[in-house]
Amino acid sequence: ALPSRVKIVEVSPRDGLQNEKEFVPTDIKVELVNRLAAAGFPNVEAASFVSPKWVPQMADGADVMARIERRPGTIYSVLTPNMKGFEGALAAGADEIVIFGAASEAFSQKNINCSIAESIARFEPVVQAAREAGIRVRGSISCALGCPYQGDVPVASVVDVAQRYLAMHVDEIDVADTIGVGTPQRVRDVMTAVTRVVDPARVSGHFHDTYGQALANILAALETGISIFHTSVAGLGGCPYAKGATGNVATEDVLYMLRGLDIDTGVDFDAVVDIGQWMSAHLNRKGSSRAGNAIAAK
Ligand code: HMG
Ligand code: MG
Repeated sequence: ALPSRVKIVEVSPRDGLQNEKEFVPTDIKVELVNRLAAAGFPNVEAASFVSPKWVPQMADGADVMARIERRPGTIYSVLTPNMKGFEGALAAGADEIVIFGAASEAFSQKNINCSIAESIARFEPVVQAAREAGIRVRGSISCALGCPYQGDVPVASVVDVAQRYLAMHVDEIDVADTIGVGTPQRVRDVMTAVTRVVDPARVSGHFHDTYGQALANILAALETGISIFHTSVAGLGGCPYAKGATGNVATEDVLYMLRGLDIDTGVDFDAVVDIGQWMSAHLNRKGSSRAGNAIAAK
């Protein structure tokens, strides 16, 4: 049976915007976060505390965090690749941090400039400090369904990173299809293997939609007991260090599908369609959510 409720982590302020060439004004980022929280998302990925040389678009993370309205009960999460990022997150009052490693060596080098083993060693003090400060921790596993540099990624490599995260006591593990190459059978295989070692209630699916497989992949993941998904309004997104990757699965499309499956999210669908249209207008392009565009055209 499918879960009756799904938790959506809205990642557009971070994954959605990080790849935008033109700097998105801090005011717009703040409004995006505020509107998403008001629409009912339990978790909004609001910023990254990464090197501004590596990802200039995320350089204003501390300002974004300082200026948003905090809705009680909403978790505002931020990316932290190292202790320097953690210190920023702590000062900003983040509710949750995200350490982000990879199941592929080649991608680890490109994205965070170190090997998988080095990244794990770097994350350990970060996770420990977060736990001491009472901050939730998510561990993201990039390239869990394929890598732009290495190609196939063995399921065992994904499980290996998941086990390393578990040993650090992360709260949630994000299985990420960074470049959107996965297909449902592969998703079933990876999720089945990961949930053999991690409680499915603590595993999420983070799907990019490059090859148009993301909704099918979410359905496949739901069938393996996964009930947390990452989505981005208007399908914004992409990683600057993942060649050829397009946006995350569009939030509007996922909400539409889940509503059809009678799965509750607690999110106001109409408000999300409006946010998607507003954000796309700001970025001067048509968003890639099929459901969002269909409803807006009515
Ligand atoms: P490095 O160059 O090896 O690091 O980069 P370093 O420690 O040698 O530091 C170099 C410079 O960066 C120094 O400054 C540091 O102070 C500064 P300088 O002395 O040259 O002036 N620095 C920082 N500044 C601010 N905040 C920090 C920070 N750390 C160092 N936290 C590093 C290593 C990890 C920092 C770099 O590679 C980096 O920032 N990478 C981030 C890349 C990124 O953000 N990628 C996108 C997010 S991941 C993603 O999208 C995937 C995901 O969506 C899931 C999926 O789809 O797969 C999550
Ligand atoms: Mg991503």
